[in-house]
Amino acid sequence: MPKQFGRRQVLTAGAATVAIAGLSACSSPGASEPTEEDLAISTPSSAATSKVVATASDVPVGSVFKFTDPNSGMPAFLLQPAAGTFIAYSSKCTHQGCVVDAYPDANAFKCACHGAKYDLATGEPDETTAKSLTATALAKIALTVAGDQISVA
Ligand code: FES
Repeated sequence: MPKQFGRRQVLTAGAATVAIAGLSACSSPGASEPTEEDLAISTPSSAATSKVVATASDVPVGSVFKFTDPNSGMPAFLLQPAAGTFIAYSSKCTHQGCVVDAYPDANAFKCACHGAKYDLATGEPDETTAKSLTATALAKIALTVAGDQISVA
């Protein structure tokens, strides 16, 4: 039996942060100019290779976390149906490519274009949708979980 997602809220990704490291704010005469090293912009070291999209705390068990898939640029959904188990689905409807949204209270993803519905836990289309629209399951997005960080390939 699929996990029921009873939370009313779909969580969304926050803005990425970039830090400027080592820049001193001294403006007194005679102070040395900041070096190139002082002005280096630092980003999370894993950003370039692992595409971190969330931390485990972003998606409590039974909730849905909406993020932008860095590979497609499309919205995507991250779920944690059981502690430590993470799955992600593309928002691209398999009927004609519109964007689906998550409705945790209805335990479904729904597409507003022609009414397709997909199970929130499995991504499978419901029987009516599968028959009338010949839709298939939402595409799963491969994830890597390293400690608290959840990444896409
Ligand atoms: S494109 Fe989603 S139901 Fe048709």
